[in-house]
Amino acid sequence: MKDDHDDAKRPTDEAKAAGTGREHSPSRRRFMRNIGLSSLAAGAASTGFGSAFAAGDKHADETDADAPGAGKQRVTFKINGQMKQVDVTPNTVLLDAIRQNLEMSGTKKGCDHGQCGACNVHVNGTVINSCLSLAVMHDGDEITTVEGLGSAEDLGDLQQAFWQADGYQCGYCTSGQMMTAAYILKDKRIGTSGDELRQAMSGNLCRCGAYKNIEAAIAQARGKLQGA
Ligand code: FES
Ligand code: FES
Repeated sequence: MKDDHDDAKRPTDEAKAAGTGREHSPSRRRFMRNIGLSSLAAGAASTGFGSAFAAGDKHADETDADAPGAGKQRVTFKINGQMKQVDVTPNTVLLDAIRQNLEMSGTKKGCDHGQCGACNVHVNGTVINSCLSLAVMHDGDEITTVEGLGSAEDLGDLQQAFWQADGYQCGYCTSGQMMTAAYILKDKRIGTSGDELRQAMSGNLCRCGAYKNIEAAIAQARGKLQGA
């Protein structure tokens, strides 16, 4: 015989589907629904989607043809004196933004782990490994790459010195070597002795072992740039 008391304790189909094994009272369901909606609204607001959603913006589904693609962010910086804009994913490193988005191939990818210096560029006057720095961190920054030191038709003093002193063999490390050297030659804290120069250049590796000529090239450029 059916017992009303047993029915009251038996889980409803809804509770079984939810996997709780407990019946939800109407007031509990309403509470859970309200919590869910407010969490969704808070999450949406933090992504920027929420303002249109919460305000019932009738333009929310209109697409901006100029907006960055899905999952991308727009970054604007000045590179070699020119303002550039790139749309990148949040995990794009500066090196890839320069080489792939801006198609400036002078800056090289060697180790991709901050160990060789092939990717060195200047950011706001400081030399950095561009393979270790996210592009989105450089919005508004001023960047100089090896292309900013001169051109094939009009070599800069440092490029000319590397050329004259044979400061390279395969040339893969050369742009990074020159960017570090360009920084060193401006930094008055770094002395002019061979030891100090080698110490300052120690973050730039050359698999061809052209160190002797690289050092000679930098010394030659120093003479020209500083009259030493
Ligand atoms: S590629 Fe960046 S340090 Fe080697
Ligand atoms: S010149 Fe070849 S790696 Fe330096």
